[in-house]
Formats: sequence, C-alpha cells, structure tokens
Amino acid sequence: MRLTEVREISQEPGKYAGQRVSVGGWVRSNRDSRSIGFLVIADGSCFAQLQIVYSDALDGTADGAERETPARRLDFAGTAKLNVGAAVIVTGVIVETPEAKQPFEMQAEEVFLEGASAPEYPLQKKRHTLEYLRTMPHLRPRTNTFQAVFRVRSVAAFAIHQFFQQQDFVYVHTPLITASDAEGAGEMFQVTTLPLESVPRREDGAVDYSQDFFGKKTSLTVSGQLNGEAFATAFRNIYTFGPTFRAEQSNTTRHAAEFWMIEPEMCFADLGDYMDCAEAMLKYMIRSTMEQCPQEMQFFNSFVDRGLIERLTNVVESDFGRISYTDAVALLEKHNDEFDFKVYWGCDLQTEHERYLTEQVFRKPVFVTDYPKEIKAFYMKQNPDGRTVAAADCLVPGIGEIIGGSQREDDLERLTARMDELGMEKSDYQFYLDLRRFGSVRHSGFGLGFERAVMYLTGMGNIRDVALFPRTFGNCEL
Ligand code: 4AD
Ligand code: MG
Repeated sequence: MRLTEVREISQEPGKYAGQRVSVGGWVRSNRDSRSIGFLVIADGSCFAQLQIVYSDALDGTADGAERETPARRLDFAGTAKLNVGAAVIVTGVIVETPEAKQPFEMQAEEVFLEGASAPEYPLQKKRHTLEYLRTMPHLRPRTNTFQAVFRVRSVAAFAIHQFFQQQDFVYVHTPLITASDAEGAGEMFQVTTLPLESVPRREDGAVDYSQDFFGKKTSLTVSGQLNGEAFATAFRNIYTFGPTFRAEQSNTTRHAAEFWMIEPEMCFADLGDYMDCAEAMLKYMIRSTMEQCPQEMQFFNSFVDRGLIERLTNVVESDFGRISYTDAVALLEKHNDEFDFKVYWGCDLQTEHERYLTEQVFRKPVFVTDYPKEIKAFYMKQNPDGRTVAAADCLVPGIGEIIGGSQREDDLERLTARMDELGMEKSDYQFYLDLRRFGSVRHSGFGLGFERAVMYLTGMGNIRDVALFPRTFGNCEL
C-alpha cells in the first residue's frame, strides 16, 4: 500500500488539498467529544505531525479484506479508544487550515488499527524529563526531542561525508579490533576468548596469550588513525567515520565508552592545513544542518538552548580563534583563583580551562596549538623548541574539546627516539615505522568526536542524549 509521508504533505499542503491519501504513523494524542475527535499522529518522516479529525460517520463495519494489511477497521468509538502509542493507517482528505497552528489537517474516512498500544504506555502527551526518558532508551526516539536529535545526527553525518567526498578524500574503513594502542594511553577494552575463570598462564605466571583467539593480546580500537595513516600514504587524503571505544572511567556529560569519530588524514599537509580543513568541515556541517533541519533547529532554539541559532550563525560567519598553549596558559594563570584546578605550564588543560578560553575569552571556537609533548601522544611532530609538539585541539563553547589533532612525526629517528623515551614496544608498531621508512611525507590529521559535534549542533547538554543507547562508565543498557 502506498503511504503518503507527512513530510510530503507539509512541504506542499496546497498540492495535497482536496486529495485522498493514506498515512501510517503512531498516535501522539487523541481526544474526542461526543461526535468528533482529534487524533495527532507522527509518522517519523519529519518533525511535523498530522492532525486528523474524525467523526461519528466513521464506518467500522465493512471489513478491510481488500487491504494488503491485516489491520482492523475502526469506527468512531474504536478510534476514540485508541491509546497513545498505537500504530494506525488513516485514509482521508487533506484540507488546508491557514488560520491554524499547522496549515493542514486530514478529515478521516477510514481508520485502520495496525497495532494497539497498552494504556500503560509511558510516553503520554506531557513533558518528560531527559533523566526519565533515559530509563527507556528504546522508546525515547518517539518524542519530539529525540526525533530532532537523531534527524540532526543523520543529516550531520551525511554532511560530513559530502564535505570530504567533494574534495576527493577517500572514505576508508579501519579495523575495530586491534593489536596496537593508537593513543598510547592504555584506555582500551580487551578482546579475548580466554576463559576468565581459568586463564592459561606461562611458566613465569604471565597470561599465555598465544592461546587466545588471535594468538596475541588484542583490544577494541581507541582510534583508527594509525591504520588511516597507512591509507593516507597511498591515497594522500583519506577519512574514517566509525565507532571507537575507550575504557575511560570518566563519568561526565561528555565522555562515552563507545563513540563515533571522524578521522581525516592528509599528506603534504602541516598543522595549519589541518586547522583550515577542520574549521571548514565544522562550518559545512553546521550550515548543512541548519539548512536541512530548520524545524528541528527551531525546536532546539526554543526548548533546549536559547540563542543556539544565533550562536551557530555567528560561528559560520566568523573565523575561529587560534592561540598557542603557552599563551593560553599565561592568560589562564591570571584567573587561577576562579579554577578548581590551578593552571601552570605543562599541565593538561581541564574542561574548566577549555571552557573559560572558548566561552569567556574568545566567545567562539578556538584552536589551542603547540602543547607540551609530555601531555600528548607519541606520534605528534616535535617542534624545534624540543618542548612542544605541533598539536592542536579545537575547543567550542558549552563543551570544550571537540577535535584533537596534530601534524605527525614523519622523521623515523625522532619517532623511534620518542617511542623509546616512552618505553613503547616498537615491535608492535613496525607497520607504522615502515610508513616513515618508505616515502615518508609531511602529514597531518585530526579526530572529531561525532557525539560532541551533535551536542554542539543541538545544544543538548549530555552525551547520553545524543546516542540512543549510550555506553558510559557503569552503564550499558539494551
Ligand atoms: O583527542 P583524541 O583522543 O584524538 C585522537 O584519538 C586522535 N587519534 C585523532 C586524530 O588525530 N586522528 O580524540 C579525538 C576526539 C576528541 O576531541 C573528542 O571530541 C572525542 O574524540 N572523544 C570522545 N568523545 C566522547 N567520549 C569520549 N570518551 C571521547 N574521547 C575522545
Ligand atoms: Mg584529545
């Protein structure tokens, strides 16, 4: 059966006026008086819903045998009894209602029940808190807030692909199970089939990984970057867009154990090229989303984060700030009395410092560059000063770090010396060193945390509300 989407009708109500169409969706609200009722359904095709007017002329007697669906045909009383959440198909005529909140509605001729909803359906027509909705992740996409979040998430993801595809970046898929720690931070989830109750051990007492599935110790990846660099040194410009995993025990609004990351890698590119690319990418993503999701963005602006649209519009129209770590620390030190964690040169910037820089000082996104090498990953290009690396983090208001990236160390000797300093097992990274041995090239890349990008786009304040089934420290439901 051909169902018309509410999206099609709302885009051109004039074209549908007077026409008989069938729409399938889920009941959002239902009220009736003696001989007339109002059913509002959402069909998932767009943010707008469809108000359906039904009357006691509805005929429930004729059977629906000619229908392709085995649905039951409802009369007025049956329709009036429909609970919120029920799935229905309604056939009727579209009429324009220019004076009403929504400029069109449907006059029902036939109502078919696809699937009834029990009266204890938890999403009744009232505002529920985000905390309450988190207790039912499987049902919350049926609410306005999560309709808007996941539409934006979809559109933003596609915009990022478009941005890179238009510039001939190759989209590559890097492995999720890995034998190397890309960030060298040791926050990895181990992957094993060894029996945890009786782990096989070698003579010296160490776990005998030769008996494990892969014959060695393996984990879920924290980043596709190192594999991405192998692709980049063949294709020049590549990007990944996939899940990554971190066993960070940080119970914050911005940390998830499973999140999606976009990791471009560009050859013949330095730190400045990375920042230019990242800035253009964020602006493209914002612009596309605002263009394609005007109703959703208006909803966020009204109910989630007042000022969101104005802020994002400013971001698209102005240049991001840029400041070196050293200058940023000098600036922040003057405000140490306002911070829980005091700033000094060499410290890792905490969220409170990042947010102070982007919210109070710059009031827009800012790149902080050239961090001390001790607080950054082993692969970052060492600067001539011997103390810092050519790294840059992009900080945005409301969130803090949204992107991390760097120019990569392309000098074999300096890279191996740094790995030795850090006590890394070079034999695990032979493939990575080969990239410096055979045609090494100046190259740079970065990682955008996609959930944080969606938070930034929507104004949603908690990463648990931009992933439908969030995995966070101590929490893995469904
Ligand atoms: O700064 P990170 O650790 O950088 C990397 O992984 C590099 N390999 C990227 C690269 O250069 N190719 O992570 C990149 C981004 C962060 O800026 C943040 O937005 C996001 O990933 N991120 C997280 N998002 C949600 N939950 C977590 N636990 C995250 N950890 C990092
Ligand atoms: Mg980082």
